[in-house]
Amino acid sequence: MQEKIILIKDSAKTEIASVGTTKLLNDLKVKYLGKNGEVTALLKGMKDIPAENRAEFGKIINELKVEITELFATKELQLKEIEMQEKFNSEAIDITLPGKVNNCGSLHPLNIVKNKIIDAFCGMGFEVFEGPEIDTDYYCFQALNIPKDHPARDMQDTFYITDNVLLRPHTSPGQVRTMENKQPPIKILSPGRVYRADDDASHSPMFHQIEGLVVDKGVSLCDLQGLLDEFVKIMFDEQTKTRFRPSYFPFTEPSVEVDVTCCKCHGAGCSLCKGTGWIEILGAGIVNKNVLEMSGIDSNVYSGLAFGLGIERITMIKYGISDIRTLFENNVKFLKQFNRR
Ligand code: PHE
Repeated sequence: MQEKIILIKDSAKTEIASVGTTKLLNDLKVKYLGKNGEVTALLKGMKDIPAENRAEFGKIINELKVEITELFATKELQLKEIEMQEKFNSEAIDITLPGKVNNCGSLHPLNIVKNKIIDAFCGMGFEVFEGPEIDTDYYCFQALNIPKDHPARDMQDTFYITDNVLLRPHTSPGQVRTMENKQPPIKILSPGRVYRADDDASHSPMFHQIEGLVVDKGVSLCDLQGLLDEFVKIMFDEQTKTRFRPSYFPFTEPSVEVDVTCCKCHGAGCSLCKGTGWIEILGAGIVNKNVLEMSGIDSNVYSGLAFGLGIERITMIKYGISDIRTLFENNVKFLKQFNRR
């Protein structure tokens, strides 16, 4: 019996020492201490031991049980520690790795600028009205006091669909369509695509304009200047100034060409403003009385101001873009530069 106890003790010690996982250790526990385990069998065998030796053997077997139980407990702690460490190692996150970059789209520069222009004027009480891109000779020319021999009417400049129907060469028809449908006070902005048979580094056959129209009692050139002074400060910066130069448009009288101080050199002269310190940004004027009358507005009571600006032109000035075509090529590398996130 004593030999058996020693054998069990030795084999338990070596087996426990050599086991490598908690799972195998559990199997081993069953083998020794389980219901049918070897130590349990010894305890069960107590009844066959002569009564006078029972107490002594009982003590030895109990000591064996305690010893083996302790061995298991110690080993279990060791294995758990090792397994935990392995788990930590395998699940470790390398926080020095750069994160995944989410590629986020952005508005096209023309839309950024268009929205900014609309915001600026809407802040001054303007409403947006969009007219059709395919329009008639009447709205594009006749109602705007553009005579038959005006160059804009030439096939070389305007895309005609029929003799009478064309792709609008400017957003000015928006003025007429508004005045036909609404009596003053009028304060509208008409943005949209326009078309002209022109194609080089600074002209595109399709481009965008925004028309502005104000009709009310006593509207004058001073109002136009005040409005545009405010606009260029919002669009460029606080120091930007405007300059009016006399010009000619059949639908405004007087007509002006409006320049701003160069946003790059602030008037000192640089390559953007070709050394002059000024950059032309739009055409404008006081609405010609004929135009008011043709649209059913009494020119003895009301007067109006109008302006038309090219969104491409403003965008190119604002961002220093030298070739208009880059705005239509949709090169992702180019467009990404406007992602302001
Ligand atoms: N329609 C003119 C153009 O396309 C711009 C303009 C609009 C000028 C309104 C004066 C008043 O050049």
